Amino acid sequence: MPACAFSMVEELTKSHVHMKDPEFVKKTIQQMTTDGHEKLQVVADFDRTLSKFTNKGKVCSTCHNVLEESKVMPDFYKEKAKVLRDTYYPIELNHDLTIQEKTPKMIEWYQKSHDLFTQCQLTKTDIEHIVRDSSAYLRDGCQWFIDHLHNLEIPLLIFSAGIGDIIEEVIKQQSYMYDNMKIVSNYMDFDNTGKMVGFKGEIIHIYNKNENAIHSSDYFERLNHRDNILLLGDSLGDLHMVEGAEVTNLLKIGFLNQKVKESLDLYKEKFDVVIVEDESLDVVNGITKAILNIPSQQ
Ligand code: TMP
Ligand code: MG
Repeated sequence: MPACAFSMVEELTKSHVHMKDPEFVKKTIQQMTTDGHEKLQVVADFDRTLSKFTNKGKVCSTCHNVLEESKVMPDFYKEKAKVLRDTYYPIELNHDLTIQEKTPKMIEWYQKSHDLFTQCQLTKTDIEHIVRDSSAYLRDGCQWFIDHLHNLEIPLLIFSAGIGDIIEEVIKQQSYMYDNMKIVSNYMDFDNTGKMVGFKGEIIHIYNKNENAIHSSDYFERLNHRDNILLLGDSLGDLHMVEGAEVTNLLKIGFLNQKVKESLDLYKEKFDVVIVEDESLDVVNGITKAILNIPSQQ
């Protein structure tokens, strides 16, 4: 047994970190450490998981919201997109509805939202400006995480019901898009004059982020020797992101950013580690250091 795990992951002892079964977490980290980086892959959600929920007390943008707060976008877009979000986002968050009940509503939201966005006929250069002026920020410590996964060529799948082009732009502007990283998300379609004319492929919404959304690729198949998986998410829908993957050890890490009182018990049931109201990736980095045997000062 390597000199790993719990005592070394000081971040797990913090009061904002909750675990229903600390013994399971300890054993899983120990096993992942023993197996080493060659067995590891990471599957992460983007909005409010790799990106912040708040910054300096203000709620940050999701990759859809960057459009709503942008000077580049017309007023009709902002008004209608807000009405849509106020209607459908509470449905996404409502724990009293089943996924079956929520799914048609999510499809309705994405269809309406994408149609509205397409009417604005943006260009790729607009997207670059929109992101630069936005309040979408990667979590503190995200750069460390991305760099270290890249150093050891550990695959990082970013699986998002947001907008792929915007995620890519946020990462390029604030960090680096390495070749061990892949984004599966909704991607815009541009015509040959560079105007945005719609979205490619099937809609990925928060409740179909599972193997269906990645079924046309052999991503998980090619990585089936990497059967130790770190899953990072902030929504219960994110728990399905690894469906279709070969899994021996899975550690599910959940960020609980809001509605803490109402949701903590449920999140503790569903995620192995729950990180409450923390805008950094410090806990994830602490776990990663233990698994990869990286001294805690680095
Ligand atoms: P995620 O999969 O990266 O976490 O993010 C998708 C989030 O984007 C999800 O919470 C729904 C949200 N969203 C908007 O904020 N505005 C929109 O117009 C749409 C369609 C989704
Ligand atoms: Mg999210």
